[in-house]
Amino acid sequence: MSKQPATAPARQRVAKQRPLHVPVRLGKRSYRVLIGPGLVALTADLIAKYLGPAKCAIVTDANVARHHLQQLETRLQVLGRHSGTAILVPGEATKNFSALSRLCEQLLEMGLERNDIVIALGGGVIGDVTGFAASIVRRGVRVVQLPTTLLAQVDSSVGGKTGINTPQGKNLVGTFHQPSLVLADTATLATLPERQFRAGYAEAAKYGLLGDAAFFAWLEQNWTAVFSRQPDALTKAIAVSVQGKAAIVARDETEAGDRMLLNLGHTFAHALEAFTGFSDRLLHGEAVAIGIALAFQLSADLGFAGPNSAASAIGHLHAVGLPTTIAQIPGGQGPDAGSLVKIMGQDKKVRNGKLSLVLARGIGDAFLTREIAAPTLEAFLSRHIGQPRS
Ligand SMILES: NC(=O)c1ccc[n+]([C@@H]2O[C@H](COP(=O)([O-])OP(=O)(O)OC[C@H]3O[C@@H](n4cnc5c(N)ncnc54)[C@H](O)[C@@H]3O)[C@@H](O)[C@H]2O)c1
Ligand SMILES: [Zn+2]
Repeated sequence: MSKQPATAPARQRVAKQRPLHVPVRLGKRSYRVLIGPGLVALTADLIAKYLGPAKCAIVTDANVARHHLQQLETRLQVLGRHSGTAILVPGEATKNFSALSRLCEQLLEMGLERNDIVIALGGGVIGDVTGFAASIVRRGVRVVQLPTTLLAQVDSSVGGKTGINTPQGKNLVGTFHQPSLVLADTATLATLPERQFRAGYAEAAKYGLLGDAAFFAWLEQNWTAVFSRQPDALTKAIAVSVQGKAAIVARDETEAGDRMLLNLGHTFAHALEAFTGFSDRLLHGEAVAIGIALAFQLSADLGFAGPNSAASAIGHLHAVGLPTTIAQIPGGQGPDAGSLVKIMGQDKKVRNGKLSLVLARGIGDAFLTREIAAPTLEAFLSRHIGQPRS
């Protein structure tokens, strides 16, 4: 190991461009989200600055490790604060009980103590399973999220939901465990495959569509700069999304009410993902794009929203290359309306047999309803599936 940290150039570069800080206000569990290029290389120093000189274990996946692990590991080693690194198998399948228990044991084998920190370096999969492990190992240790996908930077790294999947469904086992710090390094997105980037963009657009019309208008104007990873545009898109999420999470940490608005498009999306077997056939963000399009179309059909807002929501998702219809799901036979409604009825957002749906009165004006009857939904989906829009 050389004495000179390999990350020095990155650390100098960052010094010129200060990251944006977004606070997440949750009383004693408050934390900050820093957003900007080059933060992975600065992580060890930022942890020391904000959380004190703790020992850190890193959890990542093999894809992320290849591109981004060394700069983080080296600096922690130089400071003498690296307790070990666990490299997990990339992909959704890692969010299961056996990977979780192996990870907990690995962290204990590294000698993790109560005051130590676990760093989750990766996308939403790594963030969710690492957050879960951190919440139960030694009855809970601190976790620092270093999200490396757009989806994780705008959404999953903030808010404290952790979890794994079981044969009964996705994210049905988990905890609320807020991170102590989130560092969204926009430069890591340079290595993210385009399809993953685009899928994550659906979640950013969601924040505009559910509660911030000005942000949505900004995205309509600036999405090409965001997609070309132009640092200022990217930082702004992430920061505004995180502010949107932070405001909602601060009002409703455990999803008793307002936080459900974050599920815009998600009841449809989860049913589509279940139908495609949670596979690469349809990424989560792609399912969310179709789900948002359906939510806006249904809102327009039922007279909650004008046709123009549905057209602009769907038009923008389509313009950036996201799917907006069920017919666009690749790989053969799509679902029929009846089976989709059935799957939606099994969603974890069902309470007392009533399905919650997030609909919209317009751009930036989402609301929660439990009043849409299954036959109405099925008729709407039959119409939609019968009239594919490419
Ligand atoms: N906790 C929450 O609040 C919350 C919210 C939304 C989604 N999620 C969860 O997030 C998960 C999806 O997250 P995701 O879309 O980030 O998927 P992911 O973590 O599987 O990452 C997608 C792919 O990109 C690779 N990758 C990640 N960063 C990279 C980089 N910088 N360069 C190159 N490759 C990189 C990964 O190895 C993986 O193959 C789902 O399991 C979902 O349930 C959780
Ligand atoms: Zn989502």
